[in-house]
Amino acid sequence: MKAGLEDVIAGESGICYIDGEKGILAYRGYDIHELAPNSTFEETSHLLWFGRLPNAVELKDTSDKMRANRVLPAPVISLLKALPKEALPMEALRTAVSACSMYDPEAEDMSPEANLRKAIRLNAQCATVITAFHNIRSGREPLSPRSDLSHAGNFYYMLTGKEPNPTIIRALDVALILHADHELNASTFAARVTAATLSDIYSAVTSGIGALKGPLHGGANEAVMRMLLKIGDVSKVDAYVRDLFEQKKKIPGFGHRVYHTEDPRATHLRRMSQQACEKAGQSKWFEMSARIEAIVKAEKKINPNVDFYSASTYYVIGMPIDLFTPFFAVSRMSGWTAHILEQYSNNRLIRPRAEYAGPAPELKWVPVSQR
Ligand SMILES: CC(C)(COP(=O)(O)OP(=O)(O)OC[C@H]1O[C@@H](n2cnc3c(N)ncnc32)[C@H](O)[C@@H]1OP(=O)(O)O)[C@@H](O)C(=O)NCCC(=O)NCCS
Repeated sequence: MKAGLEDVIAGESGICYIDGEKGILAYRGYDIHELAPNSTFEETSHLLWFGRLPNAVELKDTSDKMRANRVLPAPVISLLKALPKEALPMEALRTAVSACSMYDPEAEDMSPEANLRKAIRLNAQCATVITAFHNIRSGREPLSPRSDLSHAGNFYYMLTGKEPNPTIIRALDVALILHADHELNASTFAARVTAATLSDIYSAVTSGIGALKGPLHGGANEAVMRMLLKIGDVSKVDAYVRDLFEQKKKIPGFGHRVYHTEDPRATHLRRMSQQACEKAGQSKWFEMSARIEAIVKAEKKINPNVDFYSASTYYVIGMPIDLFTPFFAVSRMSGWTAHILEQYSNNRLIRPRAEYAGPAPELKWVPVSQR
């Protein structure tokens, strides 16, 4: 057995297809290269939940429901106000999403209809939690969600108070599509394990948020931007990266358990980073990223993953660095909930075995005075 359940097939799913050798990622049969330029986050979320692309009426229905569920229960806003201002946004998200269940009369209703409604609610509310916490910690009142904006546009509006322009809306929308699902990644697996005990959907997504927070998973995008800021200039990239190699440290935003070729999400995010950095007059972040990629590829044969070019893209849009991973959660909420619904629809407790590596079970207990 390889450590970390590498290559282990841990369940059947009809949601996400990955070919790690060819670099293919598809949601419900639609290649990410089809969805990224053409779809919207609302449409992609519908695809993940329902298994097929919506017609116009269905898309309007799902989008309307997502808009209608954006407001948080008042006690959850009070809870966010009571948290320390220094709390990590991922901590605030984990706590607030868990708390939302106590104000949802349907929290314990395990009917498929109620679980679908909760999936849409969670999806809508996740963006509000993050932006509300950010405003509160910055000494401002949270902004009320706007029902005339898309999920991406409303996130930007609630975060900044500014009117989002079409370029920013599209960049965020594409990022949301690209991060929406990724098969049995660590956080989705955690969410499914919790769901498989027939615990409620809030408990399951809270497990997912906890797993996403780690720097080996969603937390990597923040580490990438902190690295770029530390390097500071393209002329300093080579020395910095070679120093990391010498210290045998990992380069944030590189490597993947499943892809042995380019992560297809990175293909889009590289282009988006270039465009966004140029438009913002801050090309140096893209140039530094491209130089890091060239060295790591040449010396280590390791490719950038989804987190590498998303970092500079979000930074120049004006997103605070510690909101990069929470924004990943805004997107992945649709994948987590689709997987949880799939788990409930054909459930069996997930309970693997461990290969025992401890002492033989023959030891005799002795009183503490004799040890
Ligand atoms: C994603 C990741 C956790 C996958 O882990 P994994 O499948 O367990 O792979 P390993 O950590 O065992 O790495 C395998 C080899 O590649 C090397 N490697 C993997 N990622 C690397 C990186 N980012 N920088 C430098 N070397 C790396 C390891 O050092 C190891 O080399 P070795 O066999 O000589 O010891 C890992 O690549 C990583 O830590 N990347 C940085 C964090 C990151 O970007 N996470 C977001 C993932 S979407």
